[in-house]
Amino acid sequence: MAAELFVGIDVGTTGCRALAVDAEGVVRAEATTEYGFAMPRPGWTEQDPEEWWSGAVRCLRSLVAQVGAGAIRGVGLTGQMHGSVFLDGRGAVIRPALLWNDQRTVAQCDAIEARVGSERLYALAGNPALTGFTAPKLLWLREHEPDAYARLAHLLLPKDYVRFRLTGAIATDVTDASGTLLLDVAGRRWSQEILAALDIDERILPALYESADVTGAVSEEAARATGLAAGTPVVAGAGDQAAGAVAAGAVTPGIAAVAVGTSGVVFLPSEEPVHARAGDVSAPPGLEPESLKTVHSFCHAVPGLWHAMGVMLSAGGSLRWLRDALYAAEAAEAARQGADVYDRITADAAEVAPGAEGLLFLPYLAGERTPHFDPFVRGSFLGLSLGHRRQHLARAVLEGIAFGLRDCLDLVRRLAGEPAEVRIMGGGAKSEVWREIIAAVLGVPLRRLGVDEGPALGAAILAAVGVGAFADVRSACQAMVRLGSVTEPPASWPSLYEALLLAYRGAYRQVAPVFREAPIGPPNEGR
Ligand code: XUL
Repeated sequence: MAAELFVGIDVGTTGCRALAVDAEGVVRAEATTEYGFAMPRPGWTEQDPEEWWSGAVRCLRSLVAQVGAGAIRGVGLTGQMHGSVFLDGRGAVIRPALLWNDQRTVAQCDAIEARVGSERLYALAGNPALTGFTAPKLLWLREHEPDAYARLAHLLLPKDYVRFRLTGAIATDVTDASGTLLLDVAGRRWSQEILAALDIDERILPALYESADVTGAVSEEAARATGLAAGTPVVAGAGDQAAGAVAAGAVTPGIAAVAVGTSGVVFLPSEEPVHARAGDVSAPPGLEPESLKTVHSFCHAVPGLWHAMGVMLSAGGSLRWLRDALYAAEAAEAARQGADVYDRITADAAEVAPGAEGLLFLPYLAGERTPHFDPFVRGSFLGLSLGHRRQHLARAVLEGIAFGLRDCLDLVRRLAGEPAEVRIMGGGAKSEVWREIIAAVLGVPLRRLGVDEGPALGAAILAAVGVGAFADVRSACQAMVRLGSVTEPPASWPSLYEALLLAYRGAYRQVAPVFREAPIGPPNEGR
């Protein structure tokens, strides 16, 4: 009998990726397409939802060509979180979506804190108002584009726009909804109190589901576009971080997932919403008490489970910047030879001793979320001397990113308990040198995944649960997630990095005021 396959679609920021996997988690087909995003002004990022749909269509057509529509039992969705898709009453897109990394809403965040009350907002939504989240984007539309707001009938998240085009359903899942600032995170339902305080009509919000629930089926029209069989069930899915955690098997308390992509994320499941604990624990040494609130407290993709999540905005993004700024010729050469320029950069870093001979890098190239909500701060090299060469900069960048992850881990472990195991995934997990640096800075061994397919695999696992191939997400993970080797921290490094950690934390306090006072970064409206 032909294998039964489950499809996961990841509607990412730079492209769409889809996989078809079998019930053992073996990838039978995959497809990716790329798209760009617009930056109409500094700090603004937008995408046309039509690009996501056409990217998903291309990926699905490719998967169907590889495995046949008849083999596909179910589809799961994941994608970039927080983005705002504005639809009118006929389901047409009103204007381009504002993305998760858009920083234009500083004034709207202040307004939300004032209208709901900062403490109430945190108690309900599990998070303070953040520029990247969805609710401030909605308020921005109301304020700046009132004609568009007047036509607004539905507010969707990015992956949910693809669901709408696939099935006609206006729906989302609790993990993605956690990033809107409109969810009662503990109750796993829209917060009437927040909606009332912000004067938002609940009817514009999508129906809410748990991640493995079936939300609809592929329509005749979508079947013609994608090649999928009409009637194929589509499950709710999850935001990219929760789906990535499912793909790493981080679906029980005690198993942490560290994801090093453009952003850097430390994710730890918890049996309770973690913000409830923020008032009872102290901040890690060198970090401010408010840093505890920079940890996101979200619903997980498993019913009855939540998670703590620290998000640094520029992890791999910092390394990509280094590549573009200092390794352009090597990148072009590597592309000609079919090699990976990041191997060259990490080899350079390996030539330099831990500590980069006194060079410290602060990875705040796009502002920061955890451990500092700070849209104004930017990156720095501190301690540059005449003796430093490109290799030192490479080492310092890898170390700075690792320190940022350590900030996230120290906060997350205070709120969700000490992890028994830490798993690492994403592009940053590929380099042995970098894994060693991260293991040493975090002070824990890091387990890799056997197959690092990221959020798309998580969405496929949720699809498998939704169509009944497994009883629940945990048993699906047991069958479908493969684990890989463990990287131990090299013997003498952790003590050195422990000493540098406090210098790293102190450095932020010194540089942050420079950016708040100088006309650098997003416009200083409202602050
Ligand atoms: C999570 C977050 C990112 C985006 C883009 O809070 O902002 O993971 O989902 O990938």
